[in-house]
Amino acid sequence: MKHDIRGLEISTSSETAAKKLDLAVADYLDYGTGAGSLVKEALGEDPDCALAQCYRGYLLMMLENRAVFPKIQETLDRLSAGAELNPRERLHVKALQAWVKGDLFNACLAWEEILETYPLDLMALKLHHTMAFYTGRSNVLRSVVSGVLGEWDEDTPGYSNVQGMYAYALEECGDYEQAERWGREATERNPEDLWAIHSVAHVMEMQGRTKEGTQWLDLPADLWPRKNFFKAHVWWHAALFNVAERNYDRAFQLFDNELSSTNSDKYIDVSNQAALLKRLEIAGVDVGDRWDLLAEHSATRINDHILPFRDAHFCLALAAKGNFDIARQHIESMAVFARSGEGWTAEATKTTLIPLCEAIVAYEAGEYARACDLLWPMRNELAPIGGSLAQRDLFTQILIDAAVKGGRLTTARSLLSERVARFPHNKPSWSQYAQVLSDLGETDRASRAAAHAGA
Ligand SMILES: [Fe+2]
Repeated sequence: MKHDIRGLEISTSSETAAKKLDLAVADYLDYGTGAGSLVKEALGEDPDCALAQCYRGYLLMMLENRAVFPKIQETLDRLSAGAELNPRERLHVKALQAWVKGDLFNACLAWEEILETYPLDLMALKLHHTMAFYTGRSNVLRSVVSGVLGEWDEDTPGYSNVQGMYAYALEECGDYEQAERWGREATERNPEDLWAIHSVAHVMEMQGRTKEGTQWLDLPADLWPRKNFFKAHVWWHAALFNVAERNYDRAFQLFDNELSSTNSDKYIDVSNQAALLKRLEIAGVDVGDRWDLLAEHSATRINDHILPFRDAHFCLALAAKGNFDIARQHIESMAVFARSGEGWTAEATKTTLIPLCEAIVAYEAGEYARACDLLWPMRNELAPIGGSLAQRDLFTQILIDAAVKGGRLTTARSLLSERVARFPHNKPSWSQYAQVLSDLGETDRASRAAAHAGA
């Protein structure tokens, strides 16, 4: 029996294996590129180490590819068949088993069970944070991070990671002031903490502080050479601020140089790229042939159904490119999956993802009335597909655009009134609002909105 850096027991006799796992967790939390190799090295030291086997399973799950599922199940079967496990390791096996079945809800519960007894299990906390995010449950995010916070202090290794997670959880719950305070403190403690930097960017996005956001993320492109794919998402936030500030050249520069890694499987890459292109198109900007690669890649993933949020963006890329037949095949495949699958992923696909994708396809096909009819009732109920408030905001923007293009001006007026109240510094929204008010003959209100747009 050895201990990790925070004093938790690991069933291994190898000190080196335990140290390698510490490094793997730190690398994983810091969005480095070495966690997989470090876990492999730990297994090289002790092939029977159950925690290392679980970590390998977790990292394989993060590949978001069903092809690796049998390999993970094999590991799980071996671990369940009588390997030496302490109670914490048994719960990690339980979490991984639920996750591989798409049962994100019970995976989260297993990590919560770990954290109740072992609040310093940073890997359990981060995985819970990620899955609570994938299932769109902001209150669960906040509840669990704040639930362990009392057992952490600035001397505990990884404290800034916890601060960054708490910042994000607070932001998603609308507590922007506290979120920014915790996020900034985390970045001061660790200036390369991408999650914390990103949490502060979320606060600025939600408060419509777009100019400040461009400055917060006005960073040298080569700043993070040893960070993994997640850095592209931070650049995506920079691009959003620039779209809102109408710095379209900068947004394209970020898309072309930092976002469009070709044929990436990662949910985050697909959603970054598709969401940025669609936001630019809604702003009236021609994106050229940038949908092509994304649509081509999406066509190869229509039967995956790993994450509803990723499926929504595959569908968007296919429909935006005009590949409607494949987009419809994708929706049919979702329906088959929803009928036969189990757990959160299948349920969210059935209740939320399929109608959302029907709306997306209708919108891209120019059937704006149908898109509005489908999207309006669910516009505030999209959380189960996962993602952040800022990410899901794209679907509200699509609804507004459909309402404008479909001549449903009172619908558009209501949505834009809500939007400018929420994002008072967002010039494109004020501009759209002014146009809709003008089209409705409300000239005085239109002038006042136009003044905000030009301010
Ligand atoms: Fe984000």
